[in-house]
Formats: sequence, C-alpha cells, structure tokens
Amino acid sequence: MQVAILGCGQLARMMALAGIPMGMRFSFLAEPDEDASPVNGLGPIVTLREGVAVEQLYRELGQPEVMTVEREQIEVARLQPFSELCPVYPPVNALYQCQNRWRQKQMLMSLEVSHTPCVPLREAVDLNTATDRFGFPLVIKHTEEGYDGKAQWRLHNDQDVAAFAQQAQWREVSYLAEPTMNFEREVSFLAARSPQGDIRFYPPTENVHRSGVLLHSVAPAQALPASIAEQAQAGLARIQEHLEYVGMMAMECFVAGDQWWVNELAPRVHNSGHWTMQAGLASQFENHMRAVAGWPLGSTRLQGAAGMLNLLGIPLDQKALLTDDVSLHWYNKSVRPGRKLGHLILQDADVQAVRQRLLALNEKIYGDS
Ligand SMILES: Nc1ncnc2c1ncn2[C@@H]1O[C@H](COP(=O)(O)OP(=O)(O)O)[C@@H](O)[C@H]1O
Ligand SMILES: [Mg+2]
Repeated sequence: MQVAILGCGQLARMMALAGIPMGMRFSFLAEPDEDASPVNGLGPIVTLREGVAVEQLYRELGQPEVMTVEREQIEVARLQPFSELCPVYPPVNALYQCQNRWRQKQMLMSLEVSHTPCVPLREAVDLNTATDRFGFPLVIKHTEEGYDGKAQWRLHNDQDVAAFAQQAQWREVSYLAEPTMNFEREVSFLAARSPQGDIRFYPPTENVHRSGVLLHSVAPAQALPASIAEQAQAGLARIQEHLEYVGMMAMECFVAGDQWWVNELAPRVHNSGHWTMQAGLASQFENHMRAVAGWPLGSTRLQGAAGMLNLLGIPLDQKALLTDDVSLHWYNKSVRPGRKLGHLILQDADVQAVRQRLLALNEKIYGDS
C-alpha cells in the first residue's frame, strides 16, 4: 500500500518506520521551508509549491491510496483537494475542528466532556472578563499557533494584562484565557479508531512537563480513580465518533483527586504515546497506520510498565545512551536549544521500577532530578 504523509518531522518518520514492516511504502509532502531530515531515506519528499496543480503533486507522491498527517497546523484549503483523490485520515474536518483551541473547546462543551474553563478573547476588554472570572495568574494561549508551550503567556497582575493587550494581534478569537489550573498531575488518554468504528484505548499515561515541554511519560498512570478513566475514555470515544475519526488521537488532561479536565486534543500520534514503540504491543504508530489503511487494529495491552524520556536540545553522544535495557530513538535533526531530538524508552515489571530508572537517566542526561 502506498501512503503519503503530510509533514517530515519525527512523527512522520516514526509512522513510516511502523508502516514499512507491514508492507507499506511512503512518500512525504513538505512545506517549502520544512526540514525533512527525519524522513530522509524513507521515501520521496515532494514540496508543496504554489501554482502546481494538486493532481501533479498527487502523481509526484506516487498516487497514494491514503494520505495522513503528522500535524494539525495545516491550512484546510490546501489539504481538502487531496481528499478528492484519495481518503485523507484523520478526516479534514476533524483536523479543522481540532486545529483551533476555541473550536476544540466549543466541541468539548457540546459533547459534555469536562475541560479547563476558558474565556475567548476577541479584543482587549475581554481580558477584564477573564481576570474577573479567573483571577491571577491568568494563562493566555494563542488559538492556532504554538506547540511545546510556545505562544502562551502567564499574566500575574494588571501591568502584565496591559502589556499583553498592547502587543496582542487581535482578530476573531485570536486567544483564549484560562485559569491556572491547580492540578496534581497530567494524564493523557490515547486511542486509535478504525474506519469501521473499532476503538482501542492505550493505558492512561502520566506525563511530566518542563517549561511547557514534555520531559517524560510513564504508563500505566498509577492510582488513577476508575471513575476518571471511565469518564475520560467515554469522552474520547464520543469525540472520535462525533468527528467520524480515523487514526490515533490524544487527549491531554489535568487531574486533581477524582476531578479531571481536558487540557487539549491532538488529532494525531502524540509524544506521550512514544513508550508504545517498545512495550510488547502494537505501537501508536502501527495502530495509526493500520487504522488509516482500514486494516484491523492491534493490541494496546501493556504487560508491566513502560516509560519514555525526551532528549531535548542538548548535543549527546547517542551511543553513550545505549545500555542493554534502554532503546534509543534518534530523529536525525540538527541540535537547537529545547528541540526534541530523540527519546529513550524502557520497560520494567512495575511503574516504581520504571520511574526510578527514568529519574536516574534524567539525572545522567540533564544533571537534575
Ligand atoms: N491552564 C493551565 N494551567 C496550568 N498549567 C497549564 C495550563 N495550560 C497549560 N499548562 C501547562 O503547559 C503545558 C503546555 O500547554 P498546552 O496547552 O498543552 O500547549 P501545547 O500545545 O504547547 O502542548 C501543559 O502540559 C501544562 O503543563
Ligand atoms: Mg500539550
């Protein structure tokens, strides 16, 4: 089966690396300025050019039987024409609904899925509504830009509000304001859905972020109240069914006691699911590819526990990280501060053992704990 992936980063790389053993062949659609080094050698790379007909690009991509994406930040008008030539999964409308934080929140509201409250900001005075309702520190997020904590602001007082209002680029709901959530931990729920409507959930995963960037994940999340797992998985299934979704979706949540709130949705494979690559089950990448191909989904059952540590922005000797009980995934990207360059995965009998080993690796690599 010939598959085209929009995007050439590490997620595209890992999707292709999961599809190749199943007999899939890949091509990649790149933005004009995109760094394609993670997918070099995995298939032809075709650049999106203005003024070139979609049929031409489709031919250059090897006339794929299905197309998928590694990111949701894509102009729908550029993707839609491809869906007349082959199925695009996740469906273009699902990407549209998820690529804007305000549209996401409105969907969560309409489907009655618990989520972080928010105030849409259309103009400076809306900031007063938000501070009246949520107080300080106020979290502001751009509705369409940003990843890894970028395009977000923390406002601590009225001066911060005035300074933000000054430099803001106002248009129709450019930003959302949220309260600073007083959560105990962050847990993500990941599920694959096939075109036939079969949904498979991975075990809930507990995530630790540093400066807005995922640092490590451990699965399964410990001592998660059964009521949260049930409600969250039912909510994720409602979202996927509503969107007639096909592929992997991640739902990032905040958890405190027996309360939970969706923080955000990602209509794709997700960093918090990277541990699935070496944990004795069908990885999120394999299940994404199986789903978009319309093939039966694979097992999501984890024996024991697994963990993942991101390798962020520091030049490392990859070989030095390889011990006999750790596997390395390196993305072949150039080093920039904070950039996701690779990750390590390990497995053990239980979460305590995984956590201890992750902390030791963290200490070794970053020199803190
Ligand atoms: N309202 C909030 N209150 C407290 N922390 C938050 C809030 N929103 C985001 N964060 C923190 O910032 C991280 C990144 O924010 P997120 O909305 O997930 O954006 P991104 O798309 O960059 O991942 C979250 O994982 C969480 O740790
Ligand atoms: Mg996030």
